[in-house]
Amino acid sequence: MSDRYAVIGNPIAHSKSPLIHAEFARQTGQCLEYGRILGDPNDFAGDARRFFAEGGRGLNVTVPFKEQAWALADERSPRAELAGAVNTLIRLDDGRLRGDNTDGVGLVRDLGDNHGFRFQGARVLLLGAGGAARGVLLPLLETGPERLLIANRTVSKAIELAALGAAFPSATPGAGGTVEGRGLKALEGESFDLIVNATSAGLSDAVPAIPEDCLSDGGWIYDMLYGDAPTAFQRWGRTHGAARALDGLGMLVEQAAEAFWLWRGARPETLPVIKLLRG
Ligand code: ATR
Repeated sequence: MSDRYAVIGNPIAHSKSPLIHAEFARQTGQCLEYGRILGDPNDFAGDARRFFAEGGRGLNVTVPFKEQAWALADERSPRAELAGAVNTLIRLDDGRLRGDNTDGVGLVRDLGDNHGFRFQGARVLLLGAGGAARGVLLPLLETGPERLLIANRTVSKAIELAALGAAFPSATPGAGGTVEGRGLKALEGESFDLIVNATSAGLSDAVPAIPEDCLSDGGWIYDMLYGDAPTAFQRWGRTHGAARALDGLGMLVEQAAEAFWLWRGARPETLPVIKLLRG
């Protein structure tokens, strides 16, 4: 019988993970099954435990269960620890569950490896201080930016998240680098080489209210959301002189590839899969 994996979330019908992992398995010649599970909002732990008790080897976890997956894990990676959320569960040989979070590495690989963004010494603005922002914080800090500014509509959440990042043992930004939290309204006169949108504003086709001129000449924007058409923040980037205005589809595939690596020890090629999903 082939090894079993699945993605669990609610809703789950729209998930592209089964297609992505089927492509990875085909490409790397791995024999595995990858399904989707509609998780019970009141019993995530029960659903996950049942899957593993029935022989499941690994789960991808999506909205709204990432925090519950963090709590379920018997041990966690540092990046999952700082994220406070787990998107990948791995059943270890002794039956214990290891929790990891591959979202941040997915973001960094898409920007850095697929598109050639140079993080080292860059001034990076991270918009949002909710689960999506926290989920990518450690890998972003580890790229060595000159500065990482977290800006949020609710100021206190930005300050708290920045403090969490600054205090985390392995979260050392590049030499002389800083991590700071502010309100969206306190960005006047600032300039950034990269703006990452980790807010949910785009779900209602809105963009965070940031100053018109806070993107540097040649600066990039990255929206963690994606869709069939350019997102609201990509459109903002294009009308504000962004050299590149990227959506989060590459991040989706890269976070899946890292999960695949954790489970199978094989690195799939991601670019053909991103191309396939773009259709
Ligand atoms: P997620 O898991 O997607 O991060 P979340 O934890 O609910 O969801 O966080 C949503 C984030 O998007 C928050 O940072 C939120 O800002 P507040 O903390 O001030 O609520 C941000 N957000 C949502 N809509 C926004 C908007 N229209 N403009 C700016 N920020 C917005």
